[in-house]
Amino acid sequence: MGKPLILGVSASLRNARRGLGNISLIDEIKNLKSKEDLMIFLKQEAEVHLKNFQESGRSDSLPFDIMYANLKKLKGNKGLSNSEVALSSALWSAHSLGCEIDHLSLAEFYSESGVQNEDQILAKLKKADALLISTPVYFGDRSSLGQTFIESIRKNPDWKKAVEGKLYAGLAVGAKRNGGQETTLIYQILDMLNVDMLCVGNDSETTSQYGGTGLAGDIGAMPSDEYGLATTMGTGRRISRVAQALKIGEGYELKGKLKVQFWILQDSEGFALKKIQSLIAGKNIDADIVDLTTKTIHRCLACDICPTHVSTDDEYRCIIKSKKDDLKEIHPSFLDADGVIPVIYSKKDAHSTQSNYQKFLERTRYLRRGDYLLSNTLSAPIVFEEIGAHENMHIRAVTSMIRHHTVLSKPLVGIIQNDQLLNEDEIIDCFDLLLQSCERLMKGKLAMYSQDQDHLKYKPIGYVLSTVKDKEDEKLSRREAMMEERYRRNEKKLSEKIEKT
Ligand SMILES: Cc1cc2nc3c(=O)[nH]c(=O)nc-3n(C[C@H](O)[C@H](O)[C@H](O)COP(=O)(O)O)c2cc1C
Repeated sequence: MGKPLILGVSASLRNARRGLGNISLIDEIKNLKSKEDLMIFLKQEAEVHLKNFQESGRSDSLPFDIMYANLKKLKGNKGLSNSEVALSSALWSAHSLGCEIDHLSLAEFYSESGVQNEDQILAKLKKADALLISTPVYFGDRSSLGQTFIESIRKNPDWKKAVEGKLYAGLAVGAKRNGGQETTLIYQILDMLNVDMLCVGNDSETTSQYGGTGLAGDIGAMPSDEYGLATTMGTGRRISRVAQALKIGEGYELKGKLKVQFWILQDSEGFALKKIQSLIAGKNIDADIVDLTTKTIHRCLACDICPTHVSTDDEYRCIIKSKKDDLKEIHPSFLDADGVIPVIYSKKDAHSTQSNYQKFLERTRYLRRGDYLLSNTLSAPIVFEEIGAHENMHIRAVTSMIRHHTVLSKPLVGIIQNDQLLNEDEIIDCFDLLLQSCERLMKGKLAMYSQDQDHLKYKPIGYVLSTVKDKEDEKLSRREAMMEERYRRNEKKLSEKIEKT
């Protein structure tokens, strides 16, 4: 079994690399032995890029169009634009964790004179196991190069086939703090889910959930954004680990059943519940439907010690202990879910709507801060949306669930008119795909525990608790004991649920 190949896609309009410069960039990244070497390299290449601008006319105050034409005459084998710096750092992380890497510069294929050699893009997409797209932020969204690329995937069945079921993560670099990096990443996640890719965000070392976010306006500025680079590198690690898990999982087959948990979070007269019951009928899965609309879920207290203490996953560790609150009772069922599916019925007229949607999600904070209990679990919302409701619940569910370090697959959005599901066939097909993705991921996640690959046995740290608590005795060793228990639980599941082919 080979290493997964992560294809870095640059959507920069100020790109420095093209042609043979793509190949030399990959060689240069692979030769960097340490993070310190990487930082020196990024700084040096960003400076070269700035120098190229100066020599192409900036120093002589030439108009930008003339300078741009001069820049295009360069070989394309030196320098890095801001979003290329971000991409290079993420590719370096992916490579250091054991993935193969490649680079594709969209500007090379989509120029003012039209589209050139698009087949080369398709060839690269076919070879790749995962896409890592880096874009500058333009108007709180992707660049037009990124847009053309995504349109090509949507338009062309061969392209779509080439990416289906593969992994995606994104990086966005903007000139302003909060300049739209997160909106850019979220829109792109939704588009990639739509073409049936699986999506991940960042890992747990920095808080930038939807991917890497860079702050850099001027040419050459990105290497100074240390925190931004930490988020891009985290995204590189995250895509690398999940890509490897999926690859390892290919060598296994399912022996037990998938456990899929459905969270009915918003409903009206049991409509969504009935739809889920009919969707799972006849499926060979262990379905656990938790109808949260009928449960009492108190609001989060927004306490400052969440989770209440460090312990093993089986312990309910939310501060709310009221007997009237139902979360403690539900807690054990979170432990062994292979997929978590938020289910929402969104009605135009909300009179009869019963919802614990937001209350429940805020209460799952202890699962996230309790070292990402749902890490690498597949998640995809199922939303039944009445025409005209406009609640955007699938978007909200996706952006909340990615914060649990789940792996996202395409949301299922059922269109409702006069209580009828208009796109039933589509929902049935998408549900099958969802189960397939859930199985692939579950096999990979469990198989990781059978391999002697410590770097994949990622130790996510949900939160460093308060300073006082940090000083608490044995906190670290308890955390280690918690991870050990998680490994053992997964190893046990491994022997029960999957076997080597
Ligand atoms: C047309 C245009 C729109 C832009 N819109 C935004 C924006 O909405 N938010 C932001 O933070 N930066 C914005 N920027 C700045 C770029 O995202 C920023 O300069 C980035 O570093 C460019 O990356 P690159 O060097 O890889 O091309 C915009 C730049 C241009 C040219």
